[in-house]
Amino acid sequence: MKDKSTLVKKFEKVYGDITGVRVFFAPGRVNLIGEHTDYNGGHVFPCALTLGTYAVVKKRKDRKLRFYSVNFSKLGILESSLDELTPCKEDGWLNYPKGVMWAVEQKGYKIPCGIDLMVFGDIPSGSGLSSSASIEIVTGVILNALFGFGISNQDLALIGQYAEHNFNGVNCGIMDQFAIAMGKKDCAIFLDTADLSYEYAPVKLKDAKIIISSSNKRRGLSSSKYNERREECEMALSEIQAGMGINTLGDLDEALFEQVKMAIRDEDRRKRAKHAVYENQRTIKAVHALKNNDIELFGKLMNESHISLRDDYEVTGEELDTLVQEAWKVDGVIGSRMTGAGFGGCTVSIVKNNMVDEFIKRVGTAYKEKIGYSAKFYVVEIGSGPFEL
Ligand code: GLA
Repeated sequence: MKDKSTLVKKFEKVYGDITGVRVFFAPGRVNLIGEHTDYNGGHVFPCALTLGTYAVVKKRKDRKLRFYSVNFSKLGILESSLDELTPCKEDGWLNYPKGVMWAVEQKGYKIPCGIDLMVFGDIPSGSGLSSSASIEIVTGVILNALFGFGISNQDLALIGQYAEHNFNGVNCGIMDQFAIAMGKKDCAIFLDTADLSYEYAPVKLKDAKIIISSSNKRRGLSSSKYNERREECEMALSEIQAGMGINTLGDLDEALFEQVKMAIRDEDRRKRAKHAVYENQRTIKAVHALKNNDIELFGKLMNESHISLRDDYEVTGEELDTLVQEAWKVDGVIGSRMTGAGFGGCTVSIVKNNMVDEFIKRVGTAYKEKIGYSAKFYVVEIGSGPFEL
């Protein structure tokens, strides 16, 4: 399903007519380190994957929108219209493309006609590899290509985030959309979310691979918990700001935080802020380590990141903790941590080539024994940003 002609044939089966169809791709992403720092003015270090969302699209003559997902084929063709760009729970995945169309219009662009859209994704859904942001970015890229809006990829990322906040009600940071829109093959993006300055850092793992382990745990309450963490950090920041002029938690290093932390009156909130500050510093150190080819140190910082997400930020849970703890026991594991928002989803591990099979076997068996259902493993490659096929 990943080559153009198979996708177009499928589109023909679904919609009949293929005159003028175009095919696009946007990746998923995995964050190597820098978790829950992107709405705290800190750094992140994500990369785009070769897994992602393929979209086949054709302009219509009227204002109708038709959507079809190969992944949710049972739903059939779903219809909407440019005059109905409002969020609706029952719409499921449609809220992502519709949200971006709405956001683009909010920014002053006029979408002149409807589209027929078919998507196919090979990102495991609900795994925390940003399948939704991938759909958002592919939608933005499509609107640009079909209607000549000329929106930069960086602005498409901001539009995707705007849609998440104002259409889908998730107060996410900019990491996912940015990593996807700005991805570069074999590189991770060292992004300072305080001002969106960024740098590409080649990920040279020599004799190791990146393995994603999906917990297969449904991320039920994740968006409300996510918003709650964000609020806790905002409150901690305002408590610190009462005595000191900083803009974000990312402005603090560890020593400064230790000096001012008692301004945060609640212990849980202090722990959340501590994670945000320390994780940001860890991310900066990790990128230095990678640049110095010190993969061992990079891995150690990944492990510390997990511990902080588990103990201070409290977003891991038994499933992710089991995956990581079992990973740490396997020889040849350089580093392992949860990635993404948490509360389910997946972990990212850097594993020596010759131990990959062993890793999957041992972590998989231990996980099934303890949790009662299976995890799934993906050996992934770092891919580019969005493109037209
Ligand atoms: C989700 C959000 C991101 C980021 C991560 C946690 O993926 O969409 O903006 O906050 O969680 O690092």
